[in-house]
Amino acid sequence: MKPTINIRPATLEDAPFLAITIMEALDHPVYDESQRTDESNEILPKALKVCQSEDTMYTWKHGWIAEIDGKTVGALVAYDGTDYAERRQVTFPMFGDASEDFLEMDLETGPGEFYLDSMFVIPEYRRQGIGTALLKKGIEHATRLGIPKVTLAVDPHKPDNERLYRSVGLRTTGTFFIFGEDYHRMELATTQPMRIDILTVLPEMVEPFIHTSILARAQKRNLVEIHVHNLRDYTTDKHKRVDDYPYGGCAGMVMQCQPIDACISALMAEREYDEIIFTSPDGEQFNQPMANELSMKKNLIILCGHFKGIDWRIREHLITKEVSIGDYVLTGGELAAAVMTDAIVRIIPGSIGDEQSALSDSFQDNLLAPPVYTRPADYKGWKVPEVLLSGNEKLIRNWEMEQAVKRTKELRPDLLK
Ligand code: ADE
Repeated sequence: MKPTINIRPATLEDAPFLAITIMEALDHPVYDESQRTDESNEILPKALKVCQSEDTMYTWKHGWIAEIDGKTVGALVAYDGTDYAERRQVTFPMFGDASEDFLEMDLETGPGEFYLDSMFVIPEYRRQGIGTALLKKGIEHATRLGIPKVTLAVDPHKPDNERLYRSVGLRTTGTFFIFGEDYHRMELATTQPMRIDILTVLPEMVEPFIHTSILARAQKRNLVEIHVHNLRDYTTDKHKRVDDYPYGGCAGMVMQCQPIDACISALMAEREYDEIIFTSPDGEQFNQPMANELSMKKNLIILCGHFKGIDWRIREHLITKEVSIGDYVLTGGELAAAVMTDAIVRIIPGSIGDEQSALSDSFQDNLLAPPVYTRPADYKGWKVPEVLLSGNEKLIRNWEMEQAVKRTKELRPDLLK
């Protein structure tokens, strides 16, 4: 009969087993005392200190323990990669001399990742599903925390390990250079990223934008997929035309139904869309509440208007929402789509490093943001307000709120209504 495996979070008392876990994962066999070398005997007490400490990456707080009948039989050290760089700065020096070299290594993980760092199962309990149970616990934990990806590094000389990781859904996606070798990087997405499809006749206007800064990072972190479709690829016209003269003889060209319908229909055949948005100066005014609402959707289409407009029948039959970014007329909807995409994606949790900073943006609470300052405190005699240097958290928060209300009253009293 298969034994019952219980997986529980580690406590401080588990630090000695976690120290063994990380040593074994680093190829220093220490579980079997007869295999210990002078070197491993020297490192083990340091590893123990590292596991007992709370601010290292190998802290007991990052540990999971596998037990059978109350006996510890395996462990996993796994953690949110957000503060990995800082933790590594604390951890490596605790191991002593070689630490300088270690700090030169590639960063193994970072924000948006739950990193499975080290795992060990004591030899006589292997092949009983304990490793699988620990890995699944790590993946489940990451999913519960809403971290979009689980990642790990695997020694290329350990194909059995790679096979085990594959069996729980991880896939090899590249390599990184650590411990003097190219390790395989494996990952698994815990969440389906949001998807935005932008339909345009000018993809070259949108492409660079979506591959820059926060939007690029959010896609790399698997928080969002942004696809740009050239409407000319969907036209049945042999000259690749997507527009024609308007009926009734007024000036300008109108985008035809066929390419737009073909593109939207192809996308809708693949998945359900929450909204099919058309960018237009006569649409509903885009604002922060709308960005917040749209950022919680799964799949969005944004159709960029162009020329004189689009054939009205598309608006009647396919479009679910028309959005304007302001009371002025742009040459096309591409800039509007870019503005909307930026405002929507930056507030997906994990997009920007410090989530708090998205929440404290202007407009998030119907207030404009207070002034911000950085070093130096005195620049050419231009001084930073004293209160911000006081270190008094409560006074600072009160000052920020006063400033936010004052600026909003002066500049946007309509927001306070
Ligand atoms: N297309 C042209 N002008 C626009 C605007 N102000 N908002 C959205 N789409 C547009």
